[in-house]
Amino acid sequence: MSYFEELDKEMDRYLEDNASEEPAILKKLRKETYQKTTHASMISGYLQGRLLSIISNMIKPKNILEIGTFTGYSALSIAEGLPQDGKLYTIDKNEDLAYLPQKYFEESEYKDKIEFIIGDAKEEIKKLDKIWDLVFIDADKESYLTYFELIKPNLVSGSIILVDNVLWHGKVIQESAKDKSTEQIKLVNKIVSEDPDFENLILPLRDGLHLIRKK
Ligand SMILES: C[S@@+](CC[C@H](N)C(=O)[O-])C[C@H]1O[C@@H](n2cnc3c(N)ncnc32)[C@H](O)[C@@H]1O
Repeated sequence: MSYFEELDKEMDRYLEDNASEEPAILKKLRKETYQKTTHASMISGYLQGRLLSIISNMIKPKNILEIGTFTGYSALSIAEGLPQDGKLYTIDKNEDLAYLPQKYFEESEYKDKIEFIIGDAKEEIKKLDKIWDLVFIDADKESYLTYFELIKPNLVSGSIILVDNVLWHGKVIQESAKDKSTEQIKLVNKIVSEDPDFENLILPLRDGLHLIRKK
């Protein structure tokens, strides 16, 4: 491990030590995700989970849409801000892994407030006719623009959209990076920043979290 990687690890530890405690259920889920899945690093994790929770608690969203459930870590973090009558709809196409989020949602205090939808988000979003107070986009990067266009008609003034991995491991500033994911991420970042209907800021947390608010 290089000096800078060591320093990053140490800084992450410091940030975690000085953040609110991770709820026990999330700690357990994070552990099981690393034990049972091959791409565990996709998980939002401790710091981003706490940020999602704080943002959700600030908004108290009635309807939340999450695109990309994976093992359910981010879903359970965002669910912490749901009001009594609030609901979180979370979509993932991976049937093989579905048992894991299902198990944890069932075990959680939010079990009646979470609707887990297994399917392709590009089709499933169209079936959900809701006004979204909070949206978390965290699925295949090639479809980011499609997701953004699909949710746009269902946003109102004050709606918050969070888009994950928008720095794409630094590729967004690499001239040579021409792959579809990088192109799509860059396009959405640009479209959002130029759209007068939105105010936005990319938070350099982890792989970049785009914080967007509809004016
Ligand atoms: C980065 S992971 C999500 C991580 C999760 N939000 C968390 O923080 O723990 C991306 C997920 O998107 C899912 N996915 C990819 N393409 C999809 C699609 N077209 N429709 C629904 N889910 C999709 C994958 O199966 C994967 O579980």
